[in-house]
Amino acid sequence: MSSEPEPWERTLIVNRNSPLPLYYQLKEILKAKIEGGKLKPHERLPSETELVQLFQVSRMTVRQALVELENEGFIRRRQGQGTFVAEPKLRQGLLRLTSFTEDMEARGLRPGARVLAVEVLSGEEELVRRLKAAPDEQFVRLERVRLADAEPMALEISFLRRKFCPGIEEIDFTDRSLYETLRSRYGIYLGWAEQTLEVKLADDYEADVLKVKKGLPMWRMERLTYLEDRATAVEYVCSTYRGDRYKLYTELEVRGR
Ligand code: GLP
Repeated sequence: MSSEPEPWERTLIVNRNSPLPLYYQLKEILKAKIEGGKLKPHERLPSETELVQLFQVSRMTVRQALVELENEGFIRRRQGQGTFVAEPKLRQGLLRLTSFTEDMEARGLRPGARVLAVEVLSGEEELVRRLKAAPDEQFVRLERVRLADAEPMALEISFLRRKFCPGIEEIDFTDRSLYETLRSRYGIYLGWAEQTLEVKLADDYEADVLKVKKGLPMWRMERLTYLEDRATAVEYVCSTYRGDRYKLYTELEVRGR
């Protein structure tokens, strides 16, 4: 009697004659299964020992493939529980000026924050320069870990020109949108932003507050947000988003068509 073969039995075998390293081939095989939907989010992967046997490769090869898949956000390894397929990454558009809260709600996720610090600053030449503020202006520094369904997604440090939002340092931003508060409480409508994007690796602090491994690739975004006049800067933000949970999306057009 022949039973339906397990998906793992139909697994492509790594090619020992290929110039590609074995760990890389194994990684690509597992990645194809995840991207092709053969392995679903939260599904458990075979153990390291099982993978060694299934693919007839060394434990080192299996480990290297798993480390890279984890760093790229395809799998998660939980101490003592095993290896699981990760949730698909969130797709973040780059062209619209939206808040974290709006982005999460649009995806059906519950936005939240863990407020790490709030402080009033003055005499900060760097901020005066960036925000084109008067030399004696005060700023409010708000540092938050942003959460989606309670999962840490990003570390955001916002600097606000206090003259536009006096007293904002008293507000608890655990369950509140900064942009919505600027609108409803202060009548401040942000209308335009300049943003840069670069890659960095999670440092000790980011790894600690975001509960990720040090060295995980991250997206670092710096944003200067202006009023609708596109000239008056209100906010300067440094955000560090988890590279294993976000992919960036943009649309391209052929010029002149
Ligand atoms: C995004 C942006 C930040 C901005 C934040 C406001 O995450 N990257 O620059 O400060 O949204 O979010 P919220 O209004 O949810 O506090």
